[in-house]
Amino acid sequence: MPETLIKKIELRRPVAEDGMSVFKLIQQCPPLDTNSIYCNLLQCGHFAGTSVAASSGGELVGFISGYMPPERVDTLFIWQVAASEQARGQGLATRMLMHILNRPQCRKITYLETTITEANAASWALFTGLAGRLQAGIESVVEFDRDRHFAGEHETEMLVRIGPIAEAELLNSASA
Ligand SMILES: CC(C)(COP(=O)(O)OP(=O)(O)OC[C@H]1O[C@@H](n2cnc3c(N)ncnc32)[C@H](O)[C@@H]1OP(=O)(O)O)[C@@H](O)C(=O)NCCC(=O)NCCS
Repeated sequence: MPETLIKKIELRRPVAEDGMSVFKLIQQCPPLDTNSIYCNLLQCGHFAGTSVAASSGGELVGFISGYMPPERVDTLFIWQVAASEQARGQGLATRMLMHILNRPQCRKITYLETTITEANAASWALFTGLAGRLQAGIESVVEFDRDRHFAGEHETEMLVRIGPIAEAELLNSASA
């Protein structure tokens, strides 16, 4: 996708009508696990304020699902990040993360968390880059272990924690 088109991508809150497109986008973005369509519908509804849909010419080209863990409202947990193959490598995922962080409902967020498998180089680069952009620390520990939690059927998921995030850095990064 040419750079001029990438800039025309609209970022917005998802709506329930995006659910099916989210399901198909996630299917096309290995190594992401697909969820049920019903789960994607809930992400587009209940979690719309902390999720983002990226569309271009009526087509969904990016999606992030996120939420605030109910007992830790200073934390934004990023569940999945997906950019369609033709939209990758041009800053879309970073833009989508910054878009969510700059929403009014994220004003009290000081930590961002996600989980990443060791082998997902693109995801590590995305979140390490974000921490640098926000001038925030980044730490990782095992969250869900291959054997203990996945009975050997899924790679270990590392919990990545970025923060503390200062409001001033958010404003600087948004205007950069
Ligand atoms: C991971 C993913 C969302 C990145 O999307 P993107 O729009 O290409 O990411 P960005 O352009 O914002 O790049 C962010 C950083 O990651 C780096 N990066 C992107 N793809 C990379 C790759 N395949 N390998 C190494 N680094 C990569 C970029 O160079 C950039 O680094 P910088 O900040 O130092 O410049 C996309 O590749 C994808 O959808 N992958 C499949 C699903 C997935 O793995 N999701 C993440 C797990 S939650």
